[in-house]
Formats: sequence, structure tokens, C-alpha cells
Amino acid sequence: PELEKWVAEVPRPGVVEPVGTKNGNPYYEVEMREIEQQIHPDLPPTTVWGYDGQCPGPTIEARQGDPIYVRWKNKLPDEHLLPVDTTIHSSTIPYDSTGVRVVTHLHGGNVEHTSDGKPKAWFTRDFEHTGPKFEKKDYYYVNDQPPATLWYHDHSLGITRLNVYAGLAGLYLLRNNHEESLGLPSGEYEIPLVLQDRSFNEDGSLFYPTAISGTDSDPPNPDPSIVPQFFGDTSVVNGKAWPRLSVDPRKYRFRILNGSNSRFYNLKLFEYDESDGTTGTGGPPFTLVGNDGGLLASPVTIEERLEIGTGKRADVVVDFSDYAGQTLLVHNDAAAPYRGPNINTGGQQPLPEVMLIDVAVGDIDDPSQVPNTLTDVPDIPVDSVTEERYLPLTMSTDEYGRRLHLLGSDAESSPHRLYDPVTEEPTLNDTEIWSFANQTGTSHPMHLHLVHFQVLGRQPFSEYDPEAETIDVEALEPPAPEETGWNDVVTANPGEVTHVLVHFGEFEGLFNDQIGWYMWHCHMLEHEDHDMMRPFSVLPDSA
Ligand code: C2O
Ligand code: CU
Repeated sequence: PELEKWVAEVPRPGVVEPVGTKNGNPYYEVEMREIEQQIHPDLPPTTVWGYDGQCPGPTIEARQGDPIYVRWKNKLPDEHLLPVDTTIHSSTIPYDSTGVRVVTHLHGGNVEHTSDGKPKAWFTRDFEHTGPKFEKKDYYYVNDQPPATLWYHDHSLGITRLNVYAGLAGLYLLRNNHEESLGLPSGEYEIPLVLQDRSFNEDGSLFYPTAISGTDSDPPNPDPSIVPQFFGDTSVVNGKAWPRLSVDPRKYRFRILNGSNSRFYNLKLFEYDESDGTTGTGGPPFTLVGNDGGLLASPVTIEERLEIGTGKRADVVVDFSDYAGQTLLVHNDAAAPYRGPNINTGGQQPLPEVMLIDVAVGDIDDPSQVPNTLTDVPDIPVDSVTEERYLPLTMSTDEYGRRLHLLGSDAESSPHRLYDPVTEEPTLNDTEIWSFANQTGTSHPMHLHLVHFQVLGRQPFSEYDPEAETIDVEALEPPAPEETGWNDVVTANPGEVTHVLVHFGEFEGLFNDQIGWYMWHCHMLEHEDHDMMRPFSVLPDSA
């Protein structure tokens, strides 16, 4: 359906309150339920899945040093909201048993592996059936990491794309006293923006493709079939389609999450004339104060585009004080599929218009500030690296002839599927370089659980020698301005090797003497579900 743009106001996600305590710590219960949501005034209500009746889910407000427990409760119906391809990981998923499998992962959380929400730790309604890696009902989040914009989302084996598309995602904001003392815009001037793309049927229901377009394959594809990627035709922000946000002419802090399945965003603000839909000159810049893993050392003014890969967060301040009375467009020029920040035309399914911002008139007293020094971000010294992992991103086909994106562990061996034995086993306290060599035709947002990394740089394949002893850091294309500091998703562009520095110094991945797995994967959810995901485990120091 053609939906009129810029009608609804951007809502703010709610905040969850604890229901009690457990071991002296706040204890939360968050319930996944099917709900009806008015996503656009002209659309019949849409059936979605929400946490505590909200989509996106309510924000969890946590503080560094104060652990919490969360029981993620499954109260979803017996049947999935969307068609399920039962050929994905069919050897381990009991597709014929009733109930929807869910498991919630805290993305960016430095957590024990039994609370990480790994794909095989799924459970159905009221924990009736549980997956092979299910260990406990109450997840423990120790919150022993710097303040950051984290998020939680479903991670259930083989159906993550469907569960997240149905609505299972929300923000988790971790704060501390230092951050609050900085004077950044706060309270009503700090607004989460969960960016997602969706498509709708005339009756208001969510549209999600069930067949790969343009294929006539032999053997025929399963019906329904997983698709290699998904790009919705409608911009949805905080659960509203094509919305607008009213602000005062002052500074705001936006916690932006790219919560889309496959889409990248490349954002810039423009003055906008609503009478004819034309854009004028550029609006205020984004001042980046933090990314995935927390605050930057110093703010970075993004003069051009702010790239936000799938699953990434951008913590930005925007000063509207020079734009009183104006309307601004949040514009996205990322191609879809994405092929890097410089290929921003020719996207087959672009989504240029994200939302409008109406700046009120008047003179506003704005006591907030963006200090030049935000926090201490230690550099990871390159000479402390003990291992470089050459990790090819490759293409293959599955048993039905469908396109498959895979991850490898070195230049020689064939790439691995999800269930092949663990090949990445860093040792606790070691520092490594992970080198993502993208041999496919599109960009992939590569994500590691448990840790945050620093982007070292990029180089074309032709200049990279996997056999060489060391990487010539000076020769690398340096990270983009928005990539400084701590990240947990990095854009690996085609034809390039993207190097990140990782220190495995936190949880050892050991719990009750079992080796625990964490995941690393592409955060395009269609890729992740279809084998572009691998386990890693952190081995004990001096084992
Ligand atoms: Cu946000 Cu393994 O995921
Ligand atoms: Cu991918």
C-alpha cells in the first residue's frame, strides 16, 4: 500500500521496571507476546511480536557495576507469524513440534556464555521445549563494561530473521556516573531511534518474502524458502511508518540503532521543503559521541555521511539551534544491497527517506554540552598481537542450489557451515587481529559476541598477503571517522580485507568447567540464519 508520509509522530520506547530482586540484584521479567500495533494511521493494525507488549521492546536501563537478572518469558502463540523454511538447520531443529522457538541475545553485552542467548539455547512457550544448549531461565547481565548503547534481540536458530522482523528487538542502555557528569543532552532530550525497514500487505499484515525472486531452479527451492536478503519498502522508526519528530531548537542526543534485517544506512540531515518534497542544503551535522561499545575519546563531527551497518549503533548529538522553524529530512543514500560507502547510487531497493524532524521556533535555554574529552579509550597496541586470523567471506550453494554465504578459517580450507567444528579458539587475555576478507559481491556487517574491537584498517585483496608475517599497518586505509573507539560490528566491503584488533580479556567462556561458545557472524539476518555464522570459544589462559 502507498502510505502517506510524515503523518505519525515518532513515539519513544517505554522503559522496563524490575519486578523484584534476585540474589540482591534487580530482577526483570520481560514477556514476548503477539500484539496488534498501529504502525501507520492509514493501515489496519499490524500483528507483531513485542516484548512486554511493545515493538520495539521497552528499553532496559542498566548501570555499570550493577548486575541484573532478566527472565525472558515466551508467551507467543503456537504458530509462527511468518512462513518458516523448515530446511534451515533441519537436522537439529524439531520443526514438527509445536511452539515458537525464541532466545534473547544481549548484543554488545560482555556476558557469561550461559546468559548470552546463543542460537541453540532456544525455548518455546513457558519453557515447554528447550534447545540443546538451553541452560537456564534467568539470564545474568553483570554490566561490568563501560556505558554503551546495547540492544537485545531474538537469536533463535534458523529463524532469527523472522523473529526479529516480527518485532523482537529493543534497546539496553548502560550508564555510569562519569557519563552523566559530562552534561550531554539527557532526559527528554535523549531519544532512542530504532531504524527498521518493513513491507506491508493491504490488510496491514507484515510482508516478508517466501520465495527467492528470479529463480527457476532445479531441484526446486523449498516453499517457503529463505531469501538471500530482505529490504523493506517502508521506513519504520520506533515502530511507526514514515514518522516525524518534533524537537526544540537545541541539542539532542540520539541513540540510533540499525535494527533492520539486511539494510545499511548512510545518514545525513537536509533542510526539507514539505510543500514540494525538495531538499535544500545540508542540515546540522551528526556529532558522534559513542558507537557500539561506548563513548569515544573525543566527539567526532561527521561532515559527510554517517554509516550505520546492520546491527550497529550510533550515539550522536545534533544541535538544532540554528534551524528553528525548519523541517529537516533524515536522508539515507545507502544502496541496497550495500557495497561500501562510496557506492551510493544504483541501489536496487534504496530507502532514501527515513524520517522528518520539525524544529520548533523560539529561543531555548540549553545547558547541555559536548565536552572535547569524553572518556579514556585505550589503544590496543598492534605489537601485542599473538595471532592473526585470515577469515574469508565466500559464496557457495546449499543442497537446493540456493546462494549461501559462508565464513572460512584460513585461505586453504573450504569455508565452514555453522555446525563444523570450532576453528576460532583464542586464548584468554590474548590480543588478535581478525582479518575479514570479503570475496563476495556485497558488504557484510561482521559481528562478534562478547567483545568489542578496534578497527585497524582496510586494504584491497591485491595488496594483502595472508602468508606475510606482519600486517603493514601504515599501508592500510585507516578506519572511517565513525569507526573510532569500540565496535562490535564492522563493515567488510567486497574486494577488501578489513582488519580488526580484538582483546579477549573478559569472560573466559568457561562456566561449570564447560567450554562455552560465543558466536561470530554476519549481522544481515538472512545471512546469519543461512550459515554465515560460526562459534568461537575462548580457551583458558596457560591451559
Ligand atoms: Cu546482534 Cu549474534 O547478534
Ligand atoms: Cu552477510
